[in-house]
Amino acid sequence: MDMKTLKKLGREHFGSACRLCANCDGKVCAGEIPGAGGVASGASFKNNFEDLAKVQLRLRIVHEVHKPDCSFDLWGHKLAMPILAAPIGGIQFNWNNYINESEYCKHVIAGCKMAGAMGMTGDGKMPEIYGEGIEAIVESGGFGIPTIKPRPNELIIEKAAIAEKAGAVAVAVDVDAAALINITSSGQPVGPKSFNELVELKKNINLPLIIKGVMDPEDALAIAEAGIDGIVVSNHGGRVLDHTPGTAAVLPAIAKALEGKNMTIFVDGGIRTGFDVIKMLALGADAVLVGRPVTQAAVGGAEGVACLMNHLKSQMEAGMIMTGSQTLADITDRVIYKG
Ligand SMILES: Cc1cc2nc3c(=O)[nH]c(=O)nc-3n(C[C@H](O)[C@H](O)[C@H](O)COP(=O)(O)O)c2cc1C
Repeated sequence: MDMKTLKKLGREHFGSACRLCANCDGKVCAGEIPGAGGVASGASFKNNFEDLAKVQLRLRIVHEVHKPDCSFDLWGHKLAMPILAAPIGGIQFNWNNYINESEYCKHVIAGCKMAGAMGMTGDGKMPEIYGEGIEAIVESGGFGIPTIKPRPNELIIEKAAIAEKAGAVAVAVDVDAAALINITSSGQPVGPKSFNELVELKKNINLPLIIKGVMDPEDALAIAEAGIDGIVVSNHGGRVLDHTPGTAAVLPAIAKALEGKNMTIFVDGGIRTGFDVIKMLALGADAVLVGRPVTQAAVGGAEGVACLMNHLKSQMEAGMIMTGSQTLADITDRVIYKG
């Protein structure tokens, strides 16, 4: 399996749902939901790509980094790279029926495990979607992180207990799906969380808890104050609110606000290469999530997903050599070109 074969398979299966553009920047699919696009004008998806593209790296050659180490410790789980597959719910109706939810979750979780990355699974308008993610996680011996929609707290706590029983590494809640059309139109109650509701979640969930969809330092601080273990800086791939900045633009201020707090910072949005991963770490993230490229790679099954993750890792290693970074700790804003 190689990246070229994956593209070829994708072209045979995705139809107009995803045109496999060279950049995957949200331009061609703008407004296509269901589909691969960002909401309305698609600006938030496009900004993810463009704000990250604006960050430039400092190319360094006088140093001693020959074999960089990009391994990452995620709450006691040693990963070969700081890369996770983002949760994707509703792949079947968003991606031209090329795959069903259950197969997708299995490919993502198993493929990530094969490569030494980690897979996350989603939730959606059909409650079975969450269960299919859990099944894949159980099959892999607990090597994954399920994500729950921002449902009423008692339901989230119930679903988190299922994740714990499955042996999951952590559990996430994508609070930025508070007004997601797919969910609200199916009559399922979702909504934002108050500070007290976050405290209640933390108190009643035994796994590390991640809040996904943070775009503002004030939210990040409140979430830290509530004792939450991780955040994903994310605008849901530009699918929930038109005209937000890209995540690369807001990440530095969020990371600064969280300095000294016990919080793992993940980020997603427009990350397409291992070089992009380096940029996001330099801007303040501990690890990244990759969304649409995984939906495309899963056309090659678990091996396709593993192929993508290995590809990102090898680009990352090349980028670490070219920025003089031996370990992830060396990837600071030192590697960003400031003119
Ligand atoms: C088709 C589709 C379905 C998604 N489903 C979920 C979901 O169920 N839960 C969630 O937290 N995020 C979901 N997301 C958002 C992704 O997890 C992630 O934040 C986003 O795709 C990252 O941007 P990227 O695709 O540009 O890498 C979905 C995104 C897409 C494109």
